[in-house]
Amino acid sequence: MKDVLITGASRGVGFALASKFLSKGDRVFCASRNLEPLQKLSNQYGERCVLVELDLQSEPSITDAVGAIAKMSSRINIVINNAGALVNKPFRDISRKELQMCYDVNVLGPYQLMQKLLPFLEKDAHIVFISSMGGFQGSQKFAGLTAYSPSKAAEASLTECLQEEFKESNLAFNCLCLGAVQTEMLQNAFPGYQAPLTPEQISDYIYQFSTTENRFFKGKIIPVSLSTP
Ligand SMILES: NC(=O)c1ccc[n+]([C@@H]2O[C@H](COP(=O)([O-])OP(=O)(O)OC[C@H]3O[C@@H](n4cnc5c(N)ncnc54)[C@H](OP(=O)(O)O)[C@@H]3O)[C@@H](O)[C@H]2O)c1
Repeated sequence: MKDVLITGASRGVGFALASKFLSKGDRVFCASRNLEPLQKLSNQYGERCVLVELDLQSEPSITDAVGAIAKMSSRINIVINNAGALVNKPFRDISRKELQMCYDVNVLGPYQLMQKLLPFLEKDAHIVFISSMGGFQGSQKFAGLTAYSPSKAAEASLTECLQEEFKESNLAFNCLCLGAVQTEMLQNAFPGYQAPLTPEQISDYIYQFSTTENRFFKGKIIPVSLSTP
């Protein structure tokens, strides 16, 4: 049984991932602001499904979340930094508040979460960042995503920097840049767009990648896309 932390577990890719790990017998720390949708997983899997309140926009919340996790485990095997926030607006109209929110959830929050979580990681833990094709260098870009896509690019770069800083350790940091997946985020950003993948399908891949591929990949930014939104 592995100890796994998944952020953004309340819906979309994160919820599908939490379900996947739980169905395989792992203990999953499911983190997000809204814990209500996770209640059914908690009822189904009991103690193996640990609900953790986490607001990545708030440092005290990150501190509290790590404190709650650390009371139960000091050997987290896998962290999936999956939570994300997207603003789709013309460049001219994006406010400082919206920009800040995007960077808090996609970059600063995961950054601080990893800082605080470090002492509680297993020595060969695999830390996976879920970025986007929008943040992958050279990919097609979309109007309206000047807050989101550069923040996802920063998340990808953070992966490389962390691996360099911890290169003497057995920790592995990798980043998966996803293409379109049919979730609430995509539906809100691109109404009517039909993605080629469901959250369950991409979570099969992320599960396999995060449980096995740290043997072969370290500090890598990997595009995982059938399309390029
Ligand atoms: N769907 C796509 O097409 C697509 C494509 C490329 C990359 N991605 C990336 O894949 C990841 C998952 O996206 P998704 O499509 O599943 O999105 P989603 O359905 O909108 O889910 C986002 C998750 O992030 C959590 N979250 C948002 N703000 C948060 C905050 N301040 N603190 C803590 N958690 C927060 C939400 O939980 P609460 O609201 O309960 O906090 C929710 O569980 C994201 O990183 C996204 O950028 C998605």
